Amino acid sequence: MPLPKWNNSELKVAYQCIKPNFILYITGVIGNSITEASIFATIAFVFRDMLNAGANRDYSLLQRGIWIISIEAVIACILLVVFGYMFNVSVKKAMANLRIRIVDRTLDISMDSIDKLHSGDLISRINTDIQTVETIFTNQIPRLIYAIIYGVSSAILMILLNWQIALVVIALGAALITVNGLFMRSFRKAGDQIQSCHGELNTALVDVLDGNETVKLFSMETIMIRKYGEIKNNLLDLTVKRGQIQGILDSINFLLSSLNYVGILVVGSYLVSRKFINLGDIGAIVQFAMGLTFMFQQLGSLLTQLQGSLSGMKRVRELEELPVEPSDYPGGKLLVSGIPDEPVIKCADVSFAYDNDKEVLSHISFQAGYNETIAFVGGSGSGKSTLMKLLLKFYLPTKGTLSVFNTSIKEVSPEVLREQIAYVSQEAYLFQGTLEENIRMGRRGATFDEVAAAAQRANADEFIRDLSDGYQTRIGEGGFQLSGGQIQRVALARAFLSNAGIVLLDEATSALDNTSERMIQKAVDSLREERTVIVIAHKLSTVRNATKIYVLNNGHIQEEGSHEELLSARGMYWRMVERNFTA
Ligand SMILES: Nc1ncnc2c1ncn2[C@@H]1O[C@H](COP(=O)(O)OP(=O)(O)OP(=O)(O)O)[C@@H](O)[C@H]1O
Ligand SMILES: [Mg+2]
Repeated sequence: MPLPKWNNSELKVAYQCIKPNFILYITGVIGNSITEASIFATIAFVFRDMLNAGANRDYSLLQRGIWIISIEAVIACILLVVFGYMFNVSVKKAMANLRIRIVDRTLDISMDSIDKLHSGDLISRINTDIQTVETIFTNQIPRLIYAIIYGVSSAILMILLNWQIALVVIALGAALITVNGLFMRSFRKAGDQIQSCHGELNTALVDVLDGNETVKLFSMETIMIRKYGEIKNNLLDLTVKRGQIQGILDSINFLLSSLNYVGILVVGSYLVSRKFINLGDIGAIVQFAMGLTFMFQQLGSLLTQLQGSLSGMKRVRELEELPVEPSDYPGGKLLVSGIPDEPVIKCADVSFAYDNDKEVLSHISFQAGYNETIAFVGGSGSGKSTLMKLLLKFYLPTKGTLSVFNTSIKEVSPEVLREQIAYVSQEAYLFQGTLEENIRMGRRGATFDEVAAAAQRANADEFIRDLSDGYQTRIGEGGFQLSGGQIQRVALARAFLSNAGIVLLDEATSALDNTSERMIQKAVDSLREERTVIVIAHKLSTVRNATKIYVLNNGHIQEEGSHEELLSARGMYWRMVERNFTA
């Protein structure tokens, strides 16, 4: 019998999901199955009694049968509700836990793994694939266990009644399962393809939604629709293909089980006519044969369906297996005390490549001290933002060492390191929620007054108070939309609120109006007090007061010095100033 090859690890992961509620789940499923199977067994015996009652004109048998069926029905109704509740609740809990665990895990995934995932695919794994996993527990496993209990109990009772007929039925059942086994592999393949197609579909959808502006700008509607349509058609083809396989399988199953009945009726009527067996027993045997055929039929098709659902499990597992940021560091502490004499940040001969072949940063060395502002300028793609991401330990340098407070960042956990750093990114991200909540992310537990004071220092307080809901204005999906300059100032307020000793500011490249620019400039100037500030500047005004300026060109430091020194050197910086930093 070609039994399916199980991928143990996927079954193990499936078990891990339900483990905390396993007892509740399995009691519910087995209880449910036993209750249902016993109803059919009782019906078979009552059916036997009734046929015999008719044949022998013994009406007491008839009366007994009606009583038994009625009592059994009432008890079964109650039990089915209780057991059904038990397993449904345990599955819902397990799936909720799985979703939370996956999202939690996603947050820990290292940057270079996240870079390779599209958010649409990620959403598809968290929603569609976990839904598929859910059907394993709500549908396939309960049906499988029910089929086995119903089938095995029918087989035993049938053997007790007449073992010869039982053997015939079992032989036909074995044929059924063999046929189903032959279809298993193609089902699994179709399942894999369908799940990954769902991922592609989501990816395309996110492109349509997130890239809406660009799509409209370049009149890409037709292209996007065509792309979406192609994936959708592909999905349709795959689903139809799987449906065809299922159809062929179903009809073969139907044919074989019909043959089974005919076989029993032919053999049975012969045996009754020869008085080897009574009519009632044949009636009961037909009922038991139904249970047995049901088991074989279900085993075949359920095992194939389970293969399909395990494809979903596989995609969920892949997500769980992506490398995460390491979290256990031996020393793990940063000694941040008083005013350090040593440089706060030391970058010694650092090189870095996202992919092995192309170095994005080469031999970068610089230092930044307390109360200092170090500025980086340079053309687009010269590696400025990448340098900040290295300081935040989103990626590790391929060569050289980066130290913060005299400790190599390699030895510090990302959490401990990031506690010391306030980062205002180039594309500041505001979360769904109120402005107050968004600023408070800088330091959870800050009072409203502290939030407002930080906003004031970031020159955000005034525009926020002008909004009709002030600090309670809701941002994000369906909420209020802020301008680029306003978003940057809210992000700056977060940095002001945090107690971090280091501030990394990746100035927005988007053109800010003069007022916004001036306000941000004033904010940055006051930010440097009692802190170490590294700023990536796209505006001349931001750099002029910097302690030291580094000019990056294609990943290496081309020039360094103060504003005046660099101007008099008449090099790259001077040329940039002439063009007023249109980098
Ligand atoms: N996640 C990534 N994976 C691979 N390559 C990347 C990634 N992020 C950036 N790069 C590449 O690294 C180089 C430096 O990018 P970076 O974002 O550091 O430039 P930048 O100086 O900040 O530019 P800009 O002024 O436009 O913000 C670019 O060639 C870019 O294509
Ligand atoms: Mg950048």
